[in-house]
Amino acid sequence: MDPMDGGMRYTPGSSDKDWDTAVTFLPASDNKKLEKKRGPGKVGIVVGLVILAAVLALIIGLLVWHFHFRKDLKLQKIYTGSLRITNQVFVDAYENPDSTEFKDLANQVMDQLKSMYSESPEMSKYYITSRVQAFSEGSVIAYYESEFAVPVGKDAAVDRAVSSLSEMYSNKIRRVQQGPLVFDHVVSSALDTRLFSKARTSTRFAQHARSSAEEIVKSPGFPDQPYTPNSFVQWQLRGDPGHVLKLSFDTFNLEKNCSNDFVRVYDSLVAMDKYLMAEKCGFYSPSNPLTFISSRNVMLVTFVTNEEENFPGFRARVTQISRESPEIACGGKLSGSSGIFTSPNFPSYYPASTTCQWDIEVPDGKFIKLKFPKFMVSTGSPNCPEDNVQIVGKSTLCGQQPANTMVPVNSNKVTVVFKSDSSQVDRGFSATYEVFEPSDPCPDQFQCDNKRCVSLSVRCDGWNDCGDSTDEKNCKCDASMIQCRNGFCKPMFWRCDSVNDCGDDTDELNCGCKIGEFKCKNDQCVSEKLKCDGNPDCKDGSDEEGCTRGDICQASTFACSNGKCITKLKPMCDGQDDCGDNSDESNCDCGKKAYSKSRIVGGQEADVGEFPWQVSLHVKNTAHVCGASVISDRWLVTAAHCVQDDAKIKYAQPGTWEAYLGLHRQKEKQLATKRYLKQIIPHPYYNAYTYDNDIALMELDLPVTFSATIQTICLPAATDVFPAGETVTISGWGATREGGAGAPVLQKANVRVINGTVCNELMGGQITSRMTCAGILTGGVDACQGDSGGPMSLFTNDRMFLAGVVSWGDGCARRNKPGIYTNVPKFRAWIKEKTGV
Ligand code: ARG
Repeated sequence: MDPMDGGMRYTPGSSDKDWDTAVTFLPASDNKKLEKKRGPGKVGIVVGLVILAAVLALIIGLLVWHFHFRKDLKLQKIYTGSLRITNQVFVDAYENPDSTEFKDLANQVMDQLKSMYSESPEMSKYYITSRVQAFSEGSVIAYYESEFAVPVGKDAAVDRAVSSLSEMYSNKIRRVQQGPLVFDHVVSSALDTRLFSKARTSTRFAQHARSSAEEIVKSPGFPDQPYTPNSFVQWQLRGDPGHVLKLSFDTFNLEKNCSNDFVRVYDSLVAMDKYLMAEKCGFYSPSNPLTFISSRNVMLVTFVTNEEENFPGFRARVTQISRESPEIACGGKLSGSSGIFTSPNFPSYYPASTTCQWDIEVPDGKFIKLKFPKFMVSTGSPNCPEDNVQIVGKSTLCGQQPANTMVPVNSNKVTVVFKSDSSQVDRGFSATYEVFEPSDPCPDQFQCDNKRCVSLSVRCDGWNDCGDSTDEKNCKCDASMIQCRNGFCKPMFWRCDSVNDCGDDTDELNCGCKIGEFKCKNDQCVSEKLKCDGNPDCKDGSDEEGCTRGDICQASTFACSNGKCITKLKPMCDGQDDCGDNSDESNCDCGKKAYSKSRIVGGQEADVGEFPWQVSLHVKNTAHVCGASVISDRWLVTAAHCVQDDAKIKYAQPGTWEAYLGLHRQKEKQLATKRYLKQIIPHPYYNAYTYDNDIALMELDLPVTFSATIQTICLPAATDVFPAGETVTISGWGATREGGAGAPVLQKANVRVINGTVCNELMGGQITSRMTCAGILTGGVDACQGDSGGPMSLFTNDRMFLAGVVSWGDGCARRNKPGIYTNVPKFRAWIKEKTGV
């Protein structure tokens, strides 16, 4: 219905008549009626004047509001801060906000804060009140919150006034005289507005860790329920004097987007950005430990959630460690011919406000080489003013450095200083040093032009190990390698594969064929024996074209329902009845994208609806675990390894799962179609050790309706084979790098099918005929954790076929380590038997 038209033309009911009279045009001859309407008359003039006056009054009112009252619109602004009271001694009662001692001192602090603010007109005008939240030792540190009501547009001026006041007191330019307390180290900053939203329910805890016992901090409901929405929880943690606190998360599973749910850890008892050690969300596995150490005996943990997506949450242990403990002690003298040192608490987060110094000295005449296998030192700016590692007299490093960053020190002495400031900590670094003879900087190794040393075995192996390619220059290649004109060697099986691996095309030149070889239409050469063997060995399948009846039926490309064998390459769904009974053209309502505007290219976000058969399998109420593909309105194909029980979760039970169809962004589950499962059928011969037969079927509880974002993918014929070099597309929400987090938006990448024999060699003999290998052997493009079960799709005859199911790999995207996929044609009959599809 056209909405502009519909409502006006006909409205049934009593108004019909009014409408008719209102729009009936007067006949020109009806003089009486015409006369009646001629002028506005007195009443009309009065009404007009009243309307005019009202409009004028409204405009004046708006102007007055804008220029006068709007100035009075005020924002609530909260500053959190700490200050040191130098002329008081800490007593235990200060830990208890209900004690008289606490209240007395808090009142004095509040009075003095008020007089401090009165020194600046910006602050005194808008100041409302202060609240002391806690005290800690040293002499006494007070943690407070000051509230201002700041007119719109004036908040920057107040920010400046607050920070210049802090600066004055922390630089000891002045000390407070307006009362009995002497303050210094006054620090304050505006509180992040996300931490005081009124809409949240807020809870505060105060806990004191003792040496004899640990304290537990956990999200509300943990471990029985997901955490509660719209909540704000704060834990003030303390230890005894002379100790620091260690907070170790043993479970951490929050929503991935930190702007929704997050945990913040502060090196303070109030939420001051200057002391924010980290803001965390998402998932951390215990092998990637999340541990924080404070610089003093206090710490603050805040947990904020919004209304949607509640995850299992977290649990952390709080222990106190003595300042003298070797766990946090760092620095020292090193003198052996090689050694190791790390930032404190490595590989977990180093403490804030820490300095460590290592003095390394080796015998006269030798030189020192420093190497950093891991280096993650937080920084906000490139010249490392915050946290850094200084190699005195040489260089200063910060940020994230490549693995094994090397710093040669041409001397027998060097001092390394690590420094962290009060905010933002990181995982730190591990370092090694070794000596070398100045005359032989790379003993038994190859020295790159950039002074790195690499193992002799990687020289001329086709990979750039030096970083400046010098290990691949001037190579004499052995028989298994192609000699590129530019001096590189590349593996021989990359010759004539239509990819410029040398970089100067040498590997793709002279691809003519030898005697005993067949020249494909695309100029590729394959053994003569492979012609008309039923398997397409040329990438364009031309070795199977024009084969006579005598050649066929030993191995065919398609078995028709009427018993006929077809040798034509890819006869399925190509619009021609090759079988005679149309069986090669049935079940072809699949594999079509609703939106096929762009070509698929490697490693990037998919378009909405580009993979309408892609499914995201979630363990109920938690998060994405595996992918799957839609093959009918009731059936999905996934990997068998996704549906194996473990100690905690019954993955084999249909009730564990929920399937999201038509999903694009993990965050937008509400836009997708959710289905529960009726049954899961893992392949009976799935082998959990070898990943052989890694395929499973899932039946949905209710059929789905197909749409622009939900479609089936075509199943290949049992006889389909995917020749090496064929481009296939993988898609999923899995990790975007090895060990990394899952992708929030569906990703796609193109990879090439790899010859099974070559792959078996590369993968240490673990490849069976039920597996297909695909990847980019130079590394960098692959499926990864979380992509499992998802499709490896092949584009043929204008539609997509499910060539493989993401199964396993050696790490992700490593060079010479392709991804391994379940070879779907091998399971075509089994799928038919179980699902009827
Ligand atoms: N097994 C992994 C999963 O459960 C998928 C691994 C794929 N790895 C690869 N390098 N292609 O998500």
